[in-house]
Amino acid sequence: DSDPFSTKLQVPEALTFDDVLLRPMESHVEPDEADVSTRVSTNVDLNIPVLSAAMDTVTESDLAIAMARNGGLGVLHRNMTVEEMVVEVERVKRADELVIRRDNVVTARPEQTVREVDEMMEHEGVSGAPVVDDDDEVLGIISGTDIRPYLEVGESDEVRKAMTDEVITAGEDVTAREALELMYDHKIERVPIVDGDDRLAGLVTMQGILQRREHENAARADDGALRIGVAVGPFEDDRATAADDAGADVLFIDCAHAHNRNVIESAHEISETVDADVVVGNVGTREAAEAVVDFADGVKVGIGPGSICTTRVVTGAGMPQITAVAEVADVASRHDVPVIADGGIRYSGDAIKAVAAGADAVMLGSYFAGTKEAPGRVITMNGKKYKQYRGMGSVGAMRSGGGDRYLKEEDDDEGFVPEGVEAATPYKGTLASELHQLVGGMKSGMGYVGAASIPEFKERSRFVRVSSAGQTEGHPHDVMITDEAPNYSPQE
Ligand code: XMP
Repeated sequence: DSDPFSTKLQVPEALTFDDVLLRPMESHVEPDEADVSTRVSTNVDLNIPVLSAAMDTVTESDLAIAMARNGGLGVLHRNMTVEEMVVEVERVKRADELVIRRDNVVTARPEQTVREVDEMMEHEGVSGAPVVDDDDEVLGIISGTDIRPYLEVGESDEVRKAMTDEVITAGEDVTAREALELMYDHKIERVPIVDGDDRLAGLVTMQGILQRREHENAARADDGALRIGVAVGPFEDDRATAADDAGADVLFIDCAHAHNRNVIESAHEISETVDADVVVGNVGTREAAEAVVDFADGVKVGIGPGSICTTRVVTGAGMPQITAVAEVADVASRHDVPVIADGGIRYSGDAIKAVAAGADAVMLGSYFAGTKEAPGRVITMNGKKYKQYRGMGSVGAMRSGGGDRYLKEEDDDEGFVPEGVEAATPYKGTLASELHQLVGGMKSGMGYVGAASIPEFKERSRFVRVSSAGQTEGHPHDVMITDEAPNYSPQE
């Protein structure tokens, strides 16, 4: 028999992004023709294969709205109460709603003065309001155009005098097309929606319809609402149920090491009680994938690749990300379960390499933490602008409630053994411009391999192994960079 310790040294090699490159192949595909639509989980499609990380310096409702409008998916972090989470999910779900619901419609009363209503509309930021009586029946509609002749001389007149009393209304099942036709036929900009008893149920505005049109590529559920993902702790049944009830499309069981019997059992139970898809993670090996593919709607991969992550140095455990994704994808693809590569992506090239290794979508934290839509304010140091970015296993983040991702007790600061750091990241401007570079680079990668779609690319792409000399060759070298590129900053 062989010696137990020295056989331990016969180790398999595991690779990460910088170790490999895509082998260029004959191509009939122009990069801008490449179709990057994909699946994040068995029942949820996206138009771009990109997710934002469930971190408290990355994804809250503003960033989630921007992600979904651009075709991807924001995953809400869980360093907030269940009540706060529900408000955030509702904000995303309502962002692009065709019908503004009754509670959110600014209305006027017939006996108010023109001046009062003018001030109210200014304060609420709307340019018109339905006029309703005590029973919420629509008597008229008042807009800036109706008010203008009354300013100065007729300011104390009643609204019933100034309003337009021939109101065009529609029923609750109105479509965008029908609403537009009504607006066109009657040269109006807003249509109150009424229920069966003629009471105000909502409002459709021209501005709202045009806004929806601007985001043709948005990731939407069947009802037209933007998609959103929500991170849920492995044992947080109440958060899971609340997120599901609020309309979340995908729940992400959020655990640093999901290959754990209690975590898997609990995730399985959650998946049986909710309507939303349930993605389980993080894992990094084929054995872990085997343990979850039977019930999971998606599997998320990443043990220690993250930019702010110290799991590998603190615990000595981890899996280089390309190998981790490939192992999990071998198992998951046999069960037709989508795979998400989470963490370690610095460039668009890394993202498309993760797809070549078998991922259906990628999740990024640091890449988006510097955008305008990410939580937190801009800070200036030495004349340069930054935003905060911290690991969810950092002391700061665990102190605000995230410790159980790392299966750690929360009650004692001193006792934390962190697996992440707190950092600053350069301020970058809008999410849309970051996504434009990221997805543009991924499409170009598909062009080099000659693949027109993500499934074709996964099938067709091949890696070559890169030496450290090859890595150096791959970055700008022997020059001094004089102008910043929008998609490249030198590694420290
Ligand atoms: P990037 O590289 O995109 O990685 O910034 C984001 C992913 O990193 C994971 N994450 C952590 N991992 N300690 C860790 O070991 C941490 O404190 C930590 N916080 C986040 C997470 O999977 C995220 O999506």
